[in-house]
Amino acid sequence: MSPTITRRQLLAGIAGTVGLAGTAGAAAWAGGAFDPSLVAPNGDLVARTEAARRRAGAATVTASLNPRPITLDLGGPTVRTWGYADSAPGPLIRAKAGDLLRVDVENSLPATTSVHWHGIALRNDMDGVPGLTQQPIPVGGRYRYEFTAPDPGTYFYHPHSGVQLDRALYGVLVVDDPEEAGAYDAEWIVVLDDWVDGSGRTPEDVLASLQSMGGHGDMTGTDHGDMGGMSGMPMQDMEMMTSPLIGGAGDVDYPHYLVNGRIPASPVTLSGKPGQRVRIRIVNAASDTAFRLALGGHRLTVTHSDGFPVAPTPTDALLLGMGERVDVSVDLTDGVFPLVAAAEGKPGQGLALVRTAAGEPPAATVRPTELDRQVLITTTLRAAESVALASRRPERVHRLVLGGTMMPYQWTINGATFDQAEPLLVERGERVRLTFENSTAMFHPMHVHGHTFAVTGGGARKDTVIVAPKQIVAVDLNADNPGQWMTHCHNIYHAETGMMVNLAYQA
Ligand code: C2O
Ligand code: CU
Repeated sequence: MSPTITRRQLLAGIAGTVGLAGTAGAAAWAGGAFDPSLVAPNGDLVARTEAARRRAGAATVTASLNPRPITLDLGGPTVRTWGYADSAPGPLIRAKAGDLLRVDVENSLPATTSVHWHGIALRNDMDGVPGLTQQPIPVGGRYRYEFTAPDPGTYFYHPHSGVQLDRALYGVLVVDDPEEAGAYDAEWIVVLDDWVDGSGRTPEDVLASLQSMGGHGDMTGTDHGDMGGMSGMPMQDMEMMTSPLIGGAGDVDYPHYLVNGRIPASPVTLSGKPGQRVRIRIVNAASDTAFRLALGGHRLTVTHSDGFPVAPTPTDALLLGMGERVDVSVDLTDGVFPLVAAAEGKPGQGLALVRTAAGEPPAATVRPTELDRQVLITTTLRAAESVALASRRPERVHRLVLGGTMMPYQWTINGATFDQAEPLLVERGERVRLTFENSTAMFHPMHVHGHTFAVTGGGARKDTVIVAPKQIVAVDLNADNPGQWMTHCHNIYHAETGMMVNLAYQA
């Protein structure tokens, strides 16, 4: 444990935020002015689109965030890191659909930052992408985010600056549906994370080690852990670190996996009563880890994916990629039960306790049998009828071939890293199809800003979708939110080293 941030780590942190901010600016904000052939984030069209979203009598929900260096107790190990509060996750922000959110950010980090509202179809200039939709918030600077949140659901917020997400800089944003009956007795929020900061390496150190050493260079699909974490591990164990369900296992071997900020040795307790029906909002805020989640002794019914309702689907366990959210409904029985989030394809797990009665808690290493029974993958979910995207032939089709190499450590879309990528052009009013073709041996949770697409063929409405190795996943969206929208892998190390492109509305 390193209780203090060394000067070297501090400098790495500052340097680590420059790449993403600088390169995006080069493309769209060329010569200090926005490319006139594209819709400007701060232009009239974006303002008019927002005005059309505003509802008479909508409430204004205010919040403030102060990203800063903190000391965080993970439930035993105490780490120095960066957070939005003295806890992970950061403050819960809660609004009703149609409300105006006003969030004041004061940057007390030793690095520039930004706040992105993951999954929200908001006004483009509030999307929080430095160099594309705003200037980075300088050290000591302030920024006010103000936007209408149009759609109910489970969302989260995090920086869009370097690999800052891999610290404690994340929080949940719940947008309630004033129309919804709420067929449950209680609600829990469960946030999953992979943790490295303060254990001797910062996320910027991890990125630097990936970039300087690479993995093994053949992209065979077996795990290519970063050398810091993998050193001393025999090759056969490395080969075993893959997920047969989604392929690969991330690039980083984390010392800890957290549920609501806690390691399994001192888990949080979620309390209820036997017979109650609970809605659990689950967010995967990890940077490099998909989780397989199950609740011992219970079945889960998935009701929402990435905020939007799905045809209710029962399962024993489910897989959640980075950036994905699900809401599940559970009928509680009598006892103490492990809610386990196993790091998919990696050793280790996160744990929370579900308690409806007195009794001994299970061991930190407990592995409920449900984890290895029926495992739901969110691409198989069906959209609820109320949110199904009307079928329509796409006027615009973009093919996105996902590629990468471990030496050098670099991830691409259509062969280009972000700084070299041509924007993917769309026009307002079009039905757009994005076809993700994964040519690598790793899974990639692909995320589109500002829109909720539909997985083609009646699949769920989502904003983040896992594309397994050699798999093709097509998604359709209505181009109804003009602006410049990042489209990227939500593995933060893949995004930061190039797997990102701008979905650009033409003026
Ligand atoms: Cu949650 Cu561009 O990301
Ligand atoms: Cu990726």
